This record gives sequence, structure tokens and C-alpha cells, in this order.
Amino acid sequence: MSLSPRVIAFVLAFLIAAISTSFLTFVEGVTSSMLFVVGLSSFVGSFFLVLYTIEIIVYREVNKMYRTIHKLKLKDFNISRKSLIRENNPLKRLNDEIFVYVAKKQKEIEELKKLEQFRREFLADVSHELKTPIFAAQGFIHTLLDGAIDDENVRGRFLKKAAKSLDGLDALVKDLVTLSQMETGAIKMNMERLNLRVLTEDILDRLEKIAQDRRVAIKIKPDKLMEVWVMADAQRIEQVMINLIENAIKYNNEGGKVIIHFDEDKKNYGISVRDNGPGIPPEHLNRIFERFYRVEKSRSKERGGTGLGLAIVKHILNGHGSKIAVMSKLDKGTTFSFKLDKADKLEITE
Ligand SMILES: Nc1ncnc2c1ncn2[C@@H]1O[C@H](COP(=O)(O)OP(=O)(O)OP(=O)(O)O)[C@@H](O)[C@H]1O
Ligand SMILES: [Mg+2]
Repeated sequence: MSLSPRVIAFVLAFLIAAISTSFLTFVEGVTSSMLFVVGLSSFVGSFFLVLYTIEIIVYREVNKMYRTIHKLKLKDFNISRKSLIRENNPLKRLNDEIFVYVAKKQKEIEELKKLEQFRREFLADVSHELKTPIFAAQGFIHTLLDGAIDDENVRGRFLKKAAKSLDGLDALVKDLVTLSQMETGAIKMNMERLNLRVLTEDILDRLEKIAQDRRVAIKIKPDKLMEVWVMADAQRIEQVMINLIENAIKYNNEGGKVIIHFDEDKKNYGISVRDNGPGIPPEHLNRIFERFYRVEKSRSKERGGTGLGLAIVKHILNGHGSKIAVMSKLDKGTTFSFKLDKADKLEITE
């Protein structure tokens, strides 16, 4: 229980009145009415005196603290000086507010530290990813300049390798630019009516070669949903589908299966890409959407990934007001899924 200045003043005044009247009873010839008058006057007098003293001291201190807070940053506090003075226990209120303020600041500091760590890691990753293809292309070109250019067998091969490294570098820089533009909101989604089923079949034709190389079989289900009309940015959703399907092929076992599944509810189409590959260990699951994050650095590297694909997927789907979800079981496979708004019925029948 918190003691208000009035309660304290009341208790002290009562004690003072009780002590002074009890002393007075020892004096001879004192009548009960005298005792009553002395008791009452000392009670009233001390009550107001104590109350006044407490309030002067408390308010002086509160005022001082208030001024300090004012200097710190008033907008972080929910209290005004008036409401503070009116409080029953201003010191406790002030203490609570300071506690909230400190907790808030602590959280801000932790977030800043996390951001700083993220920035440092990002910078290290970018420089590493840029360095690798530059280094390779540089090596081939210098070898050619140092004389290999005269060797007809080597010349073409080295030039092709240098060009491949530079193509990789170009793709990486493009991905980075896209990501940063999406983060700053510079890219607006260009929403249009789009038959996602047709787009997916188109993508499968293009990915046929890498699927065949890994002997991965791909299927679209169910057959009855031949038309999947969604409102989306065609180019961006194509990027999403390519990355999800490519991942399902690249990170699958040889001879594995990939199923692209469409379903619908009243407002949306649900799209999922499922594989029966090795799966993603649970401790990596919520990190795979970070830029440059790869589960097995060496395995992914050998399959040509930079780890930007899913970060881009996440941003694109955010831009569509949707979210990507992932479910994975080790040795059973992985499913990525998301929803898109259905295109207007009227437009479909056009
Ligand atoms: N279907 C999947 N099965 C198993 N692991 C996966 C699957 N999809 C993604 N991963 C893991 O998540 C990581 C991140 O995927 P992401 O698409 O972001 O990058 P990437 O494929 O390595 O490179 P990029 O897409 O930029 O070419 C991959 O490196 C891989 O380790
Ligand atoms: Mg990928």
C-alpha cells in the first residue's frame, strides 16, 4: 500500500495530539474540556503543518525531476507536470514512467545493435560474393594476356570462363539493385490480370534442361484448375516462381519429384511448390529468407546460388500484400506456399 501525504499527516498529527493530551493529564486541575481543546488544536495544527512540509519537500523534488525529464525528452513520457502534481503519489508515478522510459531505450539500443551487426555481415557477404567472380575473371584474362592467348585450345575456353564469371557478377549486381530498390520502395508492383497456370507451364519449359540434368520430375496439380487468374505483377511473380521451382530442382535429390499445386478459396489462389528432397534443418528455416543465407554454403555454391533468391521472393510477395510460408521435414522434403488475390470475375470472362 502506498502512503499518501494526507495519511502520513493524519497519523503523525494524531500521535502528536495523543502525546500532548496525555502529558497534560499529569498537570493538576486540568479539565476534560481543556484536554479536548488542546487535543483538537494540536491535531489540527500538526496535521496541516506536516501536510504542508511533506508537500513542499515532495513537490520541490518532483519539480526538480520533472525539469530533468523535460531536458531529456518530454515526448517519451506520458505525463504532464499538472497531472504529476495532482497525483496521490507523484514519486511512484515518476518512478514508473522512468522505468518504462529506460526499458524503451534499452529496446532501441538492442535493435540498433542488431542492425549494426546485420550491416556488418551484409557488407562482408557482399564483398565476398563480388570478389569471387571478379577474381576468377581477372585470373583468366591475365593468363591470356601472359601468353595463353596464342594457344588456340586454351583461348576460347578461358574467354568463355571469364565471360561466365562476369555474367554471374552481372546477375548478382542486378539482384542486389532489385533488392535495395524494393527495400526503399522505389519499385512499385505493376498489378495486372495474369494466368499463373500458363506462366508456370512456360517456366517449366525453360527449366526443363536443368530438371532433366538432375532427373527431377515436375508436375502441376490439379488438372481441373486450368485457369488460375490472379492479380499480380507478371514479371515479379515470374521471378518468384522461377526461384521456388529452381530451388526445388537444385536442392532436390537426383531423381526427385517437384509438385506445383494450385488451390482456391473465395478470394485467393493458393500456390505451393513442394519437393521430396533432403529438407531444411529447423534451425535454418527462418533464416533462409535473409540475404546471402545458404543452408550448406558449399553445396549451394556448387549449384550456382548466391542466396539472394528467397530474400527477393519475400520482398516481392510483401509488395503483393502476401507472405511466403515454408514447411520442411528432414529427408521428406520442403514446401513453399503463398497466396495471391484472384482477378476480378468480370475480367476473366472478357
Ligand atoms: N527446396 C529447397 N530444399 C532444400 N533447401 C532449400 C530449398 N530452397 C532453398 N533452400 C536453401 O535455402 C537457401 C537459400 O535459397 P535462395 O533461393 O535464397 O538462394 P540460392 O538458391 O542459394 O541462390 P539464388 O536463388 O540467389 O540463385 C539455399 O541456398 C538452400 O540452402
Ligand atoms: Mg534460389
